[in-house]
Amino acid sequence: MAQAKTVLITGATRGIGKGIAIGFADAGWIVYGTGRASTTLSDANTLSWATDRKIILKQADVTDQAAMAAIMQEIKETHGRLDCLINNAGIAANTPASSLDANETSRIIDTNFRAVFTCCQSYYKMQRKSGGCIINVASVLGLVGTSLASVYSGTKGAVISLTKALAIEWANSGFRVNAICPGFIDTDMTDMIKKRESLMQKMLEFIPLKRLGTPADIAAPAIMLASDGASYITGQTLVVDGGLTAQ
Ligand code: NAI
Repeated sequence: MAQAKTVLITGATRGIGKGIAIGFADAGWIVYGTGRASTTLSDANTLSWATDRKIILKQADVTDQAAMAAIMQEIKETHGRLDCLINNAGIAANTPASSLDANETSRIIDTNFRAVFTCCQSYYKMQRKSGGCIINVASVLGLVGTSLASVYSGTKGAVISLTKALAIEWANSGFRVNAICPGFIDTDMTDMIKKRESLMQKMLEFIPLKRLGTPADIAAPAIMLASDGASYITGQTLVVDGGLTAQ
């Protein structure tokens, strides 16, 4: 029997990351995830979805490069290699551009862009001789503009460009690097939209498939991109948005 493959997903305690973790575990992968808060990770009652599937959750802030590199190393030492890294953790602000202060601006850039780069870098340095697969979770807001998301959109556009650049630079080392751009997905991040019925109705009018996406809608394309069948796909951005940006 072929050995199960390993995947590390950042920001896997809820939302899209949790959905991706469940999808990979149900597809037979050995799944590691990270979360920021120790409180979330010590609450066994809320984590049965992970323990039931033997998903291993580790505490680390994605902006802490040493901590993230140590988790990757531990996976390599335990299982022989890390087959796929999924950079999913991210934060948004919903703040007018003119009101974003320096701290908030740095926090968004550090989490959504700098940490994606440093995680990619640590993974590459650990496995430059045996290759790997990276999936970066960007956003449709990295492709199109909207109000109240200026720096967030900038970081997601940067992640799309970073994905293409690393795909080319690391192709000779056997790395594939792709990005997924979710549209509006039903998670805590879109609470602000869901709570305002008129805004939600307006949003649904714009989405050709007439619903928000689910975390499982992102898990399935991520599993496809991580599979051997996708071995000729690199440097690509897969948009998963119910048709929103096709218009
Ligand atoms: P969420 O807010 O529900 O979950 C985000 C996860 O990232 C949480 O587990 C959180 O603890 C973790 N996280 C945040 N900062 C972290 C840090 N510094 N270190 C470690 N973990 C950290 O958000 P959601 O909706 O699940 O988003 C996941 C990704 O998908 C993000 O990159 C987001 O930008 C992207 N996305 C989400 C969309 C949506 O509609 N929900 C649309 C497009 C992209």
